[in-house]
Amino acid sequence: MTDMPQLIDPFARAITYLRVSVTDRCDFRCVYCMSENMTFLPKAELLSLEELDRLCTRFVELGIRKLRITGGEPLVRKGIMTYFEAMSRHLASGALDELTLTSNGSQLRRFAQPLADCGVKRINVSLDTLDEQKFKDITRWGRFAQVMDGVDAAQEAGIRIKINAVALKGTNDDEAYKMVEWCGARGFDLTFIEVMPMGEDMGDGLRLDQFWDLKDVRAHLAANWTLTDIPLNTGGPARYVRVEETGQKIGFITPLSHNFCESCNRVRLTCTGQLFMCLGQEDEADLRKVLREGTPAALDKAIHTAIARKPKGHDFDYSRQNVTGTMTRHMSHTGG
Ligand code: GTP
Ligand code: 5AD
Ligand code: SF4
Repeated sequence: MTDMPQLIDPFARAITYLRVSVTDRCDFRCVYCMSENMTFLPKAELLSLEELDRLCTRFVELGIRKLRITGGEPLVRKGIMTYFEAMSRHLASGALDELTLTSNGSQLRRFAQPLADCGVKRINVSLDTLDEQKFKDITRWGRFAQVMDGVDAAQEAGIRIKINAVALKGTNDDEAYKMVEWCGARGFDLTFIEVMPMGEDMGDGLRLDQFWDLKDVRAHLAANWTLTDIPLNTGGPARYVRVEETGQKIGFITPLSHNFCESCNRVRLTCTGQLFMCLGQEDEADLRKVLREGTPAALDKAIHTAIARKPKGHDFDYSRQNVTGTMTRHMSHTGG
């Protein structure tokens, strides 16, 4: 085993961050992510927990230093702790710098402590609003109190929390101050995300009306606080500022208004073992087939061949009055 990155793409970017979607299922139905009556994949299509272990372990051996587990909602996958326990051995060996997840928070009361025991030190929780009614409107099936309790449980377990809020014009734009204040009071980091044109058009023009440019969010916040750019890089796409009055960090993920693809260091594995080289492009590589039917050498070859096809960037664009570069794939498929 080596700890040197071996996965280098055609633009000389070292691939050291693997995002793994362990299920396409979720107990919520967020409007920008899923339709209300989703059909989920049959179980035989999914990588088993053992296959996930084998495949992720190979990626770690090829130089992946950060694993982020996503979904759907990763914590609704049956037996998921078996997988986290398996991955924690790579933290213990020093092969992995970080094992983390992005969650909707609903199952954290049950899983926070076991996750902390596996070496999970920080998690990202998706939460767009602090208003119960709006929370229902956005998540359709979510229970706000359950998420709040989950967040408490994570904090009790000593896990650091970053809140991810998708900025939605006309929905949570009146709450930006409140979110900053709440996160500051609770000691959470906060990241705003621009809504991306993914999934199916539900008669809303893929949310063109809801697109809220984060430059405007930033200007809105700057009316109240002093924001200073900071050079922090977590290995993710967010750019950070410090709120001088409170000392807290706020991140902005701006796939539309500012393209961060030039420093992209990640690839995404879906729950069916497809490797996506970019969130915003269709190209994928079927690793499940070679994992199930091929030799270890064939698997390595398939991974290297896929990385050699990593595109320069995505083509999302909400500018002008129509949407281009859209993706029919749901976010729950690739895990955000
Ligand atoms: P940390 O920096 O470790 O906190 O991770 P992160 O921000 O990469 O992870 P998180 O799951 O919180 O990502 C938040 C969201 O940012 C994702 O769900 C996507 O919506 C968006 N995002 C992350 N990576 C990319 C990317 O490569 N391209 C695009 N377009 N969006 C991304
Ligand atoms: N645009 C932007 N962010 C999205 N997410 C889900 N769908 C979209 C979209 N269309 C976010 C969730 C979560 C992360 C995994 O992806 O809110 O924070
Ligand atoms: Fe579930 Fe997250 Fe999609 Fe909402 S955004 S439906 S919580 S996977």
